[in-house]
Amino acid sequence: MNNKLHGLAYINNKFIDTDKKISINSAIDGTEIGSISALNKEQIDFAFESAHKAFYKWSFLNFDQRIEYILKFAEFFLEDKEVIANLITKEIGKSYPDALTEVIRSYEYIIATVEMYKKELVNPIIYDDSIHGIKNKIGKFYHVPIGVVLAISPFNYPINLSIAKIIPTLLVGNTIVFKPATYGSLVCSLIAKYFDKANFPEGVFNLVMGKGSEIGDYILTNRRIEGVTFTGSTDIGKKIAKALPAKNIVLELGGKDAAIVLDDIDIKKVAKEIVKGAFNFSGQRCTAIKRVIVLDSIADNLVEELKNNVLDLKIGNPFDGVDIIPLIDNKSLNYVLDLINDAIAHNANVITGNKVVGYNLLEPTLVDNVSTKSRLAWEEPFGPVLPVIRVKTIQEAISITNASNFGLQASIFTNNIEKAKLIARYLNVGTININKSPSRGPDIFPFIGVKDSGFGVQGIVDSLKAMTRIKGIVENN
Ligand code: NAP
Ligand code: G3H
Repeated sequence: MNNKLHGLAYINNKFIDTDKKISINSAIDGTEIGSISALNKEQIDFAFESAHKAFYKWSFLNFDQRIEYILKFAEFFLEDKEVIANLITKEIGKSYPDALTEVIRSYEYIIATVEMYKKELVNPIIYDDSIHGIKNKIGKFYHVPIGVVLAISPFNYPINLSIAKIIPTLLVGNTIVFKPATYGSLVCSLIAKYFDKANFPEGVFNLVMGKGSEIGDYILTNRRIEGVTFTGSTDIGKKIAKALPAKNIVLELGGKDAAIVLDDIDIKKVAKEIVKGAFNFSGQRCTAIKRVIVLDSIADNLVEELKNNVLDLKIGNPFDGVDIIPLIDNKSLNYVLDLINDAIAHNANVITGNKVVGYNLLEPTLVDNVSTKSRLAWEEPFGPVLPVIRVKTIQEAISITNASNFGLQASIFTNNIEKAKLIARYLNVGTININKSPSRGPDIFPFIGVKDSGFGVQGIVDSLKAMTRIKGIVENN
């Protein structure tokens, strides 16, 4: 029996099969689990034209009509939660419990987005001119949709980071062309199924698929694009910013989040938290801890305890709910190995790990005494390796944190909260977590990357506002 799946594109409410297929192999062991339909230029153009045509009708619906459609979608999506989670695990190798959490988090994201839309966006902001001592004008300022939005998502949260783009964009009245990452596109093709079942008007949601390296540049030239919401690497993010200046753009890019560790901490507790923050999903999270910057005075003890926790991590098959799973592909594995070798060449010590023990499966690796001359101090591995950089002073820790090109998040571990708050003021990153690992959630929080980590803000309220513009209607008395 052939159990292989096939993911179809979806344009103007029709599922589209094409001659060109891309086979999808499981990240777990490389076996082919299915294929997707890759689109050509004409089909991509048709998706944008369909979205453009649909905009007028969709944006003129009442907000509660759009909410009704979205909630219908959410109902079908939730009904299939185990199917979706199963396919996430099979396709990209995320552990099954994490995959299920990703799907449920996405459903909760939809519900919270609807609530916050009603609360924060449907009513206008009202000003008058009483600031000038008169009251002749009443200005009503509305958040209005911008038109056709292009959403591009990454492989590591294939469902959550797609839903978190698609739903706010549509809810405020835009139409969408959605391009998922090729790794993860099979599971993302299910999203079209729920839009179809929810009977959305033609052209509101369109799914285009194909390799970014082949169709990405072409997509970015489409004249109908009024906004882009993107999560992925810094290189592609910069390409988008260059191709589409003066459009509504949100870019959530790479990170090199530091955990700054002072010498007054409970070492056991902090080491456990750092290892969890660094190695979950084999470090394939933008918010994974990607360097520990620790005061010399406590470094030996911290490294010992980090090692104990790393040795406790479970490695293997994602369906067994393990911590360390195979990396998304061989290129990613080799990239991580190169960074580790370069650190060793700069006199770093591998404390544990650095062995390939299966298909793209690297043991969790702890590297101590990492020099700031090595690439591992600065580049994003997106894999299960944690470098430790030892410093003599807090000032040095701040300066190394800020010297990164990235600026997503950072953590400060100390029992002195006032000191942590003071350090936080000096860190040039989007968000600072005191005594906890970096994380995007809770989803209601604004999620911000500065420098090469991003542009614009995501989050339940911020993603709604990001794909609107303000339109004023002034009543003169
Ligand atoms: P990626 O290689 O940049 O791919 C992201 C998306 O861009 C994919 O859909 C990809 O399609 C597409 N793409 C590739 N080339 C393109 C082009 N020329 N034009 C338009 N789109 C193009 O990133 P990834 O490997 O999926 O994800 C890992 C990276 O994302 C890491 O750097 C990570 O830190 C970052 N990330 C950041 C956040 C955040 O919120 N800050 C969250 C998650 C991940 P194909 O798959 O077909 O190539
Ligand atoms: O990979 C990037 C994600 O935005 C991280 O989300 O902090 O919930 O794992 P997370």
